[in-house]
Amino acid sequence: MIPLPPQYRGPGVSAILEEVRPSAVINCAALSSTARCRSDPRAALEANALWPSVLARACAARGTRLVHVSTDLVYSGGNAPYTLQSPAVPLSIYGWTKLFGDMLVLRRSPGALVLRTSVLVGAVGAAAPTFTEELLAGLVPGVYVDAIRSFTPIDGFAEDLLELSEGGAEGLRIVCSRQAYTRAAFAEMFLRGRGIETLPPQTYRPAGTPADLSMIPSEEVRAFRFGPGD
Ligand SMILES: NC(=O)c1ccc[n+]([C@@H]2O[C@H](COP(=O)([O-])OP(=O)(O)OC[C@H]3O[C@@H](n4cnc5c(N)ncnc54)[C@H](OP(=O)(O)O)[C@@H]3O)[C@@H](O)[C@H]2O)c1
Repeated sequence: MIPLPPQYRGPGVSAILEEVRPSAVINCAALSSTARCRSDPRAALEANALWPSVLARACAARGTRLVHVSTDLVYSGGNAPYTLQSPAVPLSIYGWTKLFGDMLVLRRSPGALVLRTSVLVGAVGAAAPTFTEELLAGLVPGVYVDAIRSFTPIDGFAEDLLELSEGGAEGLRIVCSRQAYTRAAFAEMFLRGRGIETLPPQTYRPAGTPADLSMIPSEEVRAFRFGPGD
């Protein structure tokens, strides 16, 4: 058993909920770098599983709606396409800690909404750039020809999140594009669609990177997809 570190104990989050009285809480916080999760699994467990659990308990205690964001990396990549009925068997510490987070959130706060999504793309301007921001900035050293994801526009994801939350959805949902691509194919389509002909070099995925994480979005999710003109 791993004891909860001091910063997560005590009345902290409950006191904040009491003071702010939000109608809903959206938890996007995570240790999201797979490399950092690998080098510091304890921090990964705290941020991705234990903290969401504390938050879920506090939200449940005062009847506040919790929306928790999760990932396609809870799946192995060996038996796509994934639906909510698929067994989740992650290949990474990041994936395992996110899976524990999903399970703990739903256990502690049965009315919570947990959304699994894929690589989020679009212009955000946050500290950590999205894949398309990295592509446009020339920061991607290589794109995998053998790793498939359901690249998801971040604005569509945000709209679906709000719609599902406001509509009272509870439990797990998959929110992603209806079409999946290899990183290489997606990068080519995205950059050529902007008149950029210089593409990152194509490479093979390193050991431990899931092969095919295509997901089938839940029924209520809007039919967004990426095409050549996007
Ligand atoms: N981006 C994607 O393509 C993608 C795909 C699938 C799922 N997701 C999920 O979407 C959510 C958001 O991902 P993201 O890409 O926006 O991640 P991100 O850019 O790494 O942002 C995560 C945020 O969590 C904060 N955080 C991490 N540990 C914390 C801690 N111990 N205490 C307080 N704050 C902490 C970080 O703050 P600092 O910057 O100060 O550390 C950062 O602001 C995550 O749940 C992730 O699993 C993302």
